Amino acid sequence: MKLTSRARFSTICLHAGQEPDPSTGAIITPIYQTSTYVQEALGKHKGFEYARTQNPTRMALERNVAAIESGKEGFAFASGMAAIGAIATMLKSGDHVVVSDNTYGGTFRLFDKVLRRYQLSFTYVDTSNLDEVERAMTPATRMLFVETPTNPVMRITDLRAAADLAHRRDVRLVVDNTFASPYVQRPIDFGADLVIHSTTKFLNGHSDSVGGVVVATRDDHIEWLRFVQNAEGAILGPMDAWLVLRGTKTLPIRMERHNANAMALAEFLASHPKVTQVHYPGLPAHPQHALAKKQMRGFGGLISFALGSLERARTLLNNVRLMALAESLGGVETLISHPATMTHASVPPERRQQIGITDDLVRVSVGIEDIDDLKDDLSSALSAV
Ligand SMILES: Cc1ncc(COP(=O)(O)O)c(C=O)c1O
Repeated sequence: MKLTSRARFSTICLHAGQEPDPSTGAIITPIYQTSTYVQEALGKHKGFEYARTQNPTRMALERNVAAIESGKEGFAFASGMAAIGAIATMLKSGDHVVVSDNTYGGTFRLFDKVLRRYQLSFTYVDTSNLDEVERAMTPATRMLFVETPTNPVMRITDLRAAADLAHRRDVRLVVDNTFASPYVQRPIDFGADLVIHSTTKFLNGHSDSVGGVVVATRDDHIEWLRFVQNAEGAILGPMDAWLVLRGTKTLPIRMERHNANAMALAEFLASHPKVTQVHYPGLPAHPQHALAKKQMRGFGGLISFALGSLERARTLLNNVRLMALAESLGGVETLISHPATMTHASVPPERRQQIGITDDLVRVSVGIEDIDDLKDDLSSALSAV
């Protein structure tokens, strides 16, 4: 099961980071549910001393995701937010960060309510417009934090141009790649320094684990993240690491279906008379369709659409039967949500309006069910609107 340097994406997803278990030959990396490791003699051990610092199941996942994202090393955390918290420890008081204005609400909350207390400052701009990014940069800027596509209005940032701009100013480019998944885009290939994921989403893919991961490329970042992961201790537990590792084996075939179903549903919604707007980068009408085609493989599993009023959105949400009304995304089952009152409720209303998260907007994380059943469900819910 040795991977050659020519191994392709699906093969990497299935095998990277995993060897048959040395004690039994088990093909699947076991769940090493242990807190410590017995040492043979003082100062003599097998490289494992304490499970916050080293755990074979977590390490297999970290190597697997690092390979999938074409990075050098990965670090797994207890949640996506813990992974973003670890990234933030790379900053020092006085540092400034430029952030996508449409970033996940929890990320905004961490930056705005917690990290600003430590004399870090943040400027939120539409990173799909790199002139705005450049204008927002100051001599204190140390990080450019990008989400692309953004959640839920699907703006796309040109990753290669963003990396070039950041590097000209000695700024690190961090990409939260949760929304797209590494099947759809690999930011490190375009020059990103660090990639983070909420593994809770497409990497796990089965809605049964909460976790996060950081993938790094530079040795100084790797050294710091390894230190911080152990020093702060917000590690991913072995059971969750195992669940995500199982998820990444099927990432490519799941993503093919997510992509295909989302494309078909976006076309269906775009031609529906009760839908006033559809946000999906795969539609030729999307303002950045050409860029999306250039840097994405397929267009991802998320769609958002507007219905004209909060009341109409509420009626739709109350009338779907197959789609589950729930937060989160990236699982095999289709979830439908109302960003203004659910995922983005922590974003102040004026800011929500500014970035296009209107009260009539509905988001769908399109699962891998039969597309005709998904269309039937939306069709009958729309007839009640
Ligand atoms: C884009 C994005 N980043 C980060 C997070 C945070 O991840 P977690 O919920 O695993 O802490 C989420 C969660 O929804 C997300 O959508």
